Amino acid sequence: MPHILHIDASARPGIAGRIEHGSHSRNLSQFFVSQWQASRPADPVTYRDIGQNPPSFITHDWIASSFTPDGQREPWMLDTLAESEQLVAELIAADILVIGTPLYNFGMPAALKAWVDQVVRPGRTVGIDETNPIEPYIPLLADRPRHAVILTARGGVGFEAGGQMAHMNHLEPSLLTALGFIGITRVHCIAVEGQEVGGELLATSVTEALRKVNVLVDSLLATVEAVALAEPA
Ligand SMILES: Cc1cc2nc3c(=O)[nH]c(=O)nc-3n(C[C@H](O)[C@H](O)[C@H](O)COP(=O)(O)O)c2cc1C
Repeated sequence: MPHILHIDASARPGIAGRIEHGSHSRNLSQFFVSQWQASRPADPVTYRDIGQNPPSFITHDWIASSFTPDGQREPWMLDTLAESEQLVAELIAADILVIGTPLYNFGMPAALKAWVDQVVRPGRTVGIDETNPIEPYIPLLADRPRHAVILTARGGVGFEAGGQMAHMNHLEPSLLTALGFIGITRVHCIAVEGQEVGGELLATSVTEALRKVNVLVDSLLATVEAVALAEPA
């Protein structure tokens, strides 16, 4: 049974279309999960609102604890890593990671970067082979076919791959790199653009993004059903 980890990173708590000044990325991520649950209501969903409750920034103590091998950590190191352990456990349990996130100042919100820093963990999500100085990193989440769905909202336009502003968009490229580093390589990106432009342009972008989310849900549902059929009874 696929497990969804749903993360929202917008600082805006409300949902666009329902309340004034609501979040468009939350609208997309909420739509993805509700469409999924309409077909598969029993699939577990873990929700993390990091926009409202940001993960801690990593510290000197965190780095020392993280790079101390398992079994050699002092009690204070285990305490220091408790939050990271929780976030890593949620990610490892997930088959589909759904991230709703704004573009802030050409990159990811600080809350999402804090989450990334907490879950990219030596020995937990990425192995390090010290005998191989050229390619020491082993992505540990490549053990099964996880998907990531990145649902973005932007104020401007043209930030999509190949667009006029693409060179200034460091959100999806940065997330793709970090997720690939730990072994999540099946990544799907959909965005609403023109939040600051508004009017017809924004309305069309929202409609198109929701349509793409619908298509993506159908295609991932088909993948899940195909895997279920292939498994021995
Ligand atoms: C602090 C801040 C920085 C932003 N930086 C950008 C930016 O670099 N490029 C852009 O197109 N829009 C930018 N925006 C606009 C947001 O991407 C847009 O409002 C988006 O809809 C926010 O996501 P949300 O609707 O999920 O809250 C910024 C907004 C804020 C509040």
